[in-house]
Amino acid sequence: MQKLIEGLPKVELHIHIEGSLEPEMMFALAERNGIELRFPSVEAVRQAYAFRDLQSFLDIYYEGAAVLREAQDFYDLTWAYLQKASAQRVRHTEIFFDPQTHTDRGIDFDTVITGIHDALEDGRRRLNISSHLILCFLRHLSAEAAMATLEQALAHKEKIIGVGLDSSELDHPPITFKSVFERARSEGLMTVAHAGEEGPPEYIRQALDSLQVARIDHGVRCIEDATLVERLVRNQVPLTVCPISNVKLRIFETMQAHNLKRLLDLGIRITINSDDPAYFGGYITENFLQAQRALMLDVGDIYRLSKNAILASFLGHSDKEKLLQELDTYIL
Ligand code: ADE
Ligand code: ZN
Repeated sequence: MQKLIEGLPKVELHIHIEGSLEPEMMFALAERNGIELRFPSVEAVRQAYAFRDLQSFLDIYYEGAAVLREAQDFYDLTWAYLQKASAQRVRHTEIFFDPQTHTDRGIDFDTVITGIHDALEDGRRRLNISSHLILCFLRHLSAEAAMATLEQALAHKEKIIGVGLDSSELDHPPITFKSVFERARSEGLMTVAHAGEEGPPEYIRQALDSLQVARIDHGVRCIEDATLVERLVRNQVPLTVCPISNVKLRIFETMQAHNLKRLLDLGIRITINSDDPAYFGGYITENFLQAQRALMLDVGDIYRLSKNAILASFLGHSDKEKLLQELDTYIL
């Protein structure tokens, strides 16, 4: 099973590029940019990665992102992720970035997107990884701030496939961002949103009804609402589930307690992803492996999860067909 998962051709749909910043690179970039970190060593940084909940993670995640200043920094970050993804047989990836984390500390939007975009282009050429970029709005900030960010992004519309919503979920309902998402959709952008990670099933409904999202990021709390589960099954709404993240942020006490196998068996389009691999200690392969072991997933489950990710991606029909073919050749 380990061999099968390692060699599996993969599609990743939920990875925050800032969440792939490994402590080693954090130190290297801090040095390069003359920034003082409050940690004495790489080991001390890793030791600080013990989280109580989403907010306790976000605090340290935004702090870490402060070492990113130049386009080359964003390039190096993205390139390091792509190399890792390539080694784990990721064939296509849809990457989130949080521009407000950077523009709010005086970094130009153009600097951020140019660095990430150039690395994705090199990933296509040199690693044969296709990719899309999704801009996430920080929901702890205002709808006006999100709209201003969207306006900046429209000058780079050809570089992004869609918009998403992340950061602190509790007390920050999706409906706040209705007009921002309407504007994004009117510009032809796809939409996704984090919902039902820490927040209630109601936020999943709002993301579907008010933001008209194509996928829900996390969504694991849907299980508390049978009518919602039925709707997710009926409409085949994809959930981008991140098992290791959910355990590290105490959404579930243990991997054995994770509900992804139940949701999969109920017929929801579940996918497996890494979220913030440098902070949670696992990229996509480790997420598959830990979920497989704890929940006793069989080959059929692994196949369904992989097929779901291809179908849930923002690739066009013919690219999906090619990946489905590659998956079938590998597994069947
Ligand atoms: N930003 C980065 N990771 C996140 C997560 N798991 N939930 C919400 N916002 C995030
Ligand atoms: Zn996330």
